[in-house]
Amino acid sequence: MKTLVFATNNAHKLEEVRHIVQGKVHIVSLADIGCHEEIPEEQPTLEGNALQKARFIHSRYHVDCFADDTGLEVQALHGAPGVRSARYAGPGHDSVANMRKLLEEMRGQTDRRARFRTVIALIIDGEEKLFEGIVNGSIIEEERGTGGFGYDPLFIPEGYDRTFAELGDDIKNRVSHRAIATGSLADYLRTLYPTKP
Ligand code: IMP
Repeated sequence: MKTLVFATNNAHKLEEVRHIVQGKVHIVSLADIGCHEEIPEEQPTLEGNALQKARFIHSRYHVDCFADDTGLEVQALHGAPGVRSARYAGPGHDSVANMRKLLEEMRGQTDRRARFRTVIALIIDGEEKLFEGIVNGSIIEEERGTGGFGYDPLFIPEGYDRTFAELGDDIKNRVSHRAIATGSLADYLRTLYPTKP
């Protein structure tokens, strides 16, 4: 089975991606390779940030690796918070404050359409490749549910009537932006390393 380092310090993401590719790709964490550094993400796009994070790990550790960057893109806010999703309410990664700010910005808005977009940057045998996953949905008016992380309690994916935080890991990991992008990554790996009949 192919082994890849997932360049993230987010334990939720690591767990989700391991769940999504279980049995197909062996995912190693940054801690497993002895990396405890903050990884820079200073670019103006999700693509730029995903590449910056993957290149950082590849250049230091010379391992096949990938990184993801995710943004919540809200139609009525012209795509905000987007690439600034993690710091929407200011520096730090405070999901409660970010959700509060989003609800304030959306107060009185009738157009609640939004989407999560994940970009994964893979570096394998020195080659770079990008994968994208999008899930459309809408922003509700108050948090619901305790599962997931980040903005999950405010987001209902299309075709459901519960938030990602209410739907639970099994459903989220089948339909989410990260599931779609990670699925494309796994498909690509299968083209590079086909299993013998
Ligand atoms: P990043 O990809 O770690 O930079 O995440 C950007 C922001 O989006 C952070 O505030 C995360 O908490 C949030 N986020 C990333 N992925 C998800 C998700 O799957 N659900 C909800 N929020 C997410």
